[in-house]
Amino acid sequence: MRKRLRTVWRSSPVAPEESPWWQTAVVYQVYIRSFADGNGDGVGDIAGLRARLPYLARLGVDAMWINPWYPSPMADAGYDVADYRDIEPAYGTLEDARALIAEAHALGIRVILDIVPNHTSDQHAWFRAALAGESGARRRYHFLAGRGADGELPPNDWQSVFGGPAWTRVDRGPLEGQWYLHLFAPGQPDLNWENDEVRAEFEDILAFWFDRGVDGFRIDVAHGLVKAAGLPDGAGVDAEPHTLLQVQGRHPAWDQDGVHDIYRGWRAVADRYAPERIFIAEAWVSSNARLARYLRPDELHTAFQFDFLRTPWRAQMLREVIDDAIDSAASVGAPPTWVLSNHDVTRTVTRFSRSQPAHLIETDWERGRWEDERPDHALGRRRARAAALVQLALPGTAYVYQGEELGLEEVEDLPDEARQDPTWVQSGFTDVGRDGCRIPLPWTETSVPYGFAAHPAAVTWLPQPEHWAEHSVEAQERDPGSTLNLYRSALELRPTMWRDTGDVKWLEVASDIAAFERGGAQCWVNTGDAGVPLPAGAAVVLASEPGVDGMLPPDTAVWLR
Ligand code: GLC
Repeated sequence: MRKRLRTVWRSSPVAPEESPWWQTAVVYQVYIRSFADGNGDGVGDIAGLRARLPYLARLGVDAMWINPWYPSPMADAGYDVADYRDIEPAYGTLEDARALIAEAHALGIRVILDIVPNHTSDQHAWFRAALAGESGARRRYHFLAGRGADGELPPNDWQSVFGGPAWTRVDRGPLEGQWYLHLFAPGQPDLNWENDEVRAEFEDILAFWFDRGVDGFRIDVAHGLVKAAGLPDGAGVDAEPHTLLQVQGRHPAWDQDGVHDIYRGWRAVADRYAPERIFIAEAWVSSNARLARYLRPDELHTAFQFDFLRTPWRAQMLREVIDDAIDSAASVGAPPTWVLSNHDVTRTVTRFSRSQPAHLIETDWERGRWEDERPDHALGRRRARAAALVQLALPGTAYVYQGEELGLEEVEDLPDEARQDPTWVQSGFTDVGRDGCRIPLPWTETSVPYGFAAHPAAVTWLPQPEHWAEHSVEAQERDPGSTLNLYRSALELRPTMWRDTGDVKWLEVASDIAAFERGGAQCWVNTGDAGVPLPAGAAVVLASEPGVDGMLPPDTAVWLR
């Protein structure tokens, strides 16, 4: 038996205003570099985003989360921040940001920024001061002597998430010979969160943006800030290169209990503001129970639950993952969150375009694992459309990564020389990295850059495929059966059909079907090979494929009344 959910999740329908917006929101993820380019330099920017705000309003999203937009040398696409209180010049200015926030709010769209507290850029003033020998600045990072006779070995055995050691040795200046910690790229030195100046600085940065009307923050690598005292070897506990997406077991670099104190401080900052300001944790931890610890009442509001995006196309597994996500969020009174993809993982269409063995949920779902199997994108797209209807019928918050609403696939055949993700270099050219899900969006049914850039001759920062005119916004607007129009219909129906309508009640049906009821409406999805009859008398309100009536075909989902 599933546990009962707390107050706002009771089975009886409650009026929408009873639950705060962030507990039921659909949040659209804007990967700003690839959303829309307003000045024609081939890189997305705030001007491009402002011009496309009506698109987001028409789509029907409640909020947008914008990936880091701060000044950055782009060692990791902006997750290497050089100044947390300014805007990357390629994206615009603080004045552009102010206008964007005002315009988004006027359209009813909340604005969530991405804060990167685990590390700064190596070009941040603090790190430069540290390298220049300022001792106060040095203590804000993790600088240590190496091991071995001449200190030629890294201080411990930690591996970078992107590949290779998590340590780089300083080769000149006052700190020559010392090593600094970077759990990600060498251009992303980890901050030392035992240092009070670091804590004070970030609380001030939060206030800087809250004062400018920002509604919340997605916290990057929220589970990484505090390291085990003394930075011990991880040997025996996942000492091998651990990927970002698969932090199994307990490693001294991740999910340390001390991190929660930081978030209690942040919550106190947010709670000074009205209307409510919120936090979403990106925390890749070993279980939903560990994740729930970040969501205690005096900590963060929500956290991404990533099991949903790892689940193979199998009804039984979908049911289990959904129950686990709901139960663990409910155990701390938080809403569950549903993510099908983001800028770090293989696009949903491609993930579903190959065979779906159960063990995919463990590791093999990661990028590039099925190299020998040709993707069937038509099949993957069909399943992705069905998965979207499941996602949007569930209680809690749903995240839509830009391009998901267009049914874009992962671009798996980028030329090597075009690759930008540091993973490619740091893995010794064995892991292609995440560029394939970060391709600039196609807006018009033309040729490259498909209206992405203000200038038709612009060369986009990552090349777009030759056949993307058919997936463009323009093409999909004309086609009533397009994925874009499916999302629009789903988002239009969601508030009345599913928002605040209570618990998920599973229906006893065939094993390849996941079917649940919430507040009088039903959602059915068929992951099997054969059609199944739908309940007599039920009206199909929305279907992921055209012409569904009476029977639910394979790889299809429906909303019923
Ligand atoms: C997060 C981001 C990812 C980035 C990493 C380091 O996981 O989502 O894109 O590379 O943190 O900041």
